[in-house]
Amino acid sequence: MWFFNSPKIIYGREAIDQLSNPLYVTGTKAFIVTDKDLVKLKMVDIVTSKLKEANIEYTVFDGVLPDPPISVVKAGAEQCAKYAPDLIIALGGGSAIDTAKSLWVLYEAGLDFDINGLNPFVAIPTGTKAKLIAIPTTSGTGAETTSAVVLTDDDTGLKLELLNKGTIPTMAIVDPVFVDAMPKKLTSSTAFDAISHCIENICGKWYNIYSEGLAMLALRLLFKHLPDAYAKADPDAREAVHNAATIAGLSFGNAQVHLGHSIGHALGGTFHIPHGFAVGLALPYVMQYVIKHDAGSVKTFAGAAKTLGLAEWKDDDDVAARKFLDAVQELQRKVDFPTNLADLGVTKEKLDANIDKFIELILQSGAISITPVDVSADLVRKMLYYMVDGKAIDF
Ligand SMILES: NC(=O)c1ccc[n+]([C@@H]2O[C@H](COP(=O)([O-])OP(=O)(O)OC[C@H]3O[C@@H](n4cnc5c(N)ncnc54)[C@H](O)[C@@H]3O)[C@@H](O)[C@H]2O)c1
Ligand SMILES: [Fe+2]
Repeated sequence: MWFFNSPKIIYGREAIDQLSNPLYVTGTKAFIVTDKDLVKLKMVDIVTSKLKEANIEYTVFDGVLPDPPISVVKAGAEQCAKYAPDLIIALGGGSAIDTAKSLWVLYEAGLDFDINGLNPFVAIPTGTKAKLIAIPTTSGTGAETTSAVVLTDDDTGLKLELLNKGTIPTMAIVDPVFVDAMPKKLTSSTAFDAISHCIENICGKWYNIYSEGLAMLALRLLFKHLPDAYAKADPDAREAVHNAATIAGLSFGNAQVHLGHSIGHALGGTFHIPHGFAVGLALPYVMQYVIKHDAGSVKTFAGAAKTLGLAEWKDDDDVAARKFLDAVQELQRKVDFPTNLADLGVTKEKLDANIDKFIELILQSGAISITPVDVSADLVRKMLYYMVDGKAIDF
């Protein structure tokens, strides 16, 4: 027995027009959650023009910060409660969407609700006061579909991975107009977040067939279209990658991710490395390790490689799994992706200074138990030092 959760999804070019269609969106007052850059880029204007057409009143909270701090969620929730909307609209990348999901919880459950205490076992009555519509402007996190929120503790800098199905948006509007002009680095980093979502979940302990099917579809789109989305900003390729990120969100949101994300969150929280770069960098190292130590992952990766046309049907599983890893690394080369921690500014000296803290953060991460292999402090230490040097895992 398993569950499959999803918001309603409207996708494709001009999907945003449906924001003013009363058949799909009803409401009178919208609280828009976004950041200052997206206001400057006039993305907010696209949304507000649709609200005006529908005679929906609105206000804009543009205080979202990357790696969203809990203090910003609380400030946003207070403004939201004062405004008393019946629609909350998240416009942005994972940071804006996670901020909106969290302040939605506080708006519905009460401002004194302890957001750190959000876990899968509490019932959160979202949707009673307001619906949440999530509109992604990056193609990566899939946060518009998931029951996860990632927040940052202001005092410790710790990235908190919180899960609750009450945080799944009511609706996602996935329109490539918001990513047509995305800068190259954001395109490659966020796409590798989506790729990590697919590859970690298909080899994780919460493997399930719905998630696997969606992961394979998302990977097919990403392998085919990311190079042109990156190099040429080709609009069709951007649309395919945008859909792939949402499909990958549905996939991992129903299966979860593990070691690569636990490492990524520890690095990202400490050095403010963009999430996609942090998890995408960890991905080949995690793949190398699980290929060496978990026969189930070898079989899964071999099946993925064959289905995606990256290996021959006659290849042995070991050979096909290795070809899958090679294809991931080749795709990284095509989009100028960093291959070692030093490329992201994390030198050996910086790692030395933080290693004990990293190991503790990674082992404490909620996602770690989904990893298909046992994860020890020794493994994490060794892997991080290999990641600094860009050395292939040989242990
Ligand atoms: N909830 C989930 O399921 C989930 C999944 C994966 C990641 N996350 C979290 O999401 C966050 C990362 O989100 P992200 O990678 O989307 O980045 P982000 O939301 O942090 O945005 C990064 C920067 O890109 C800018 N930006 C966004 N869209 C743009 C566009 N179209 N053009 C130009 N600039 C644009 C933003 O203004 C911001 O400055 C992390 O905190 C991560 O932990 C959450
Ligand atoms: Fe992610």
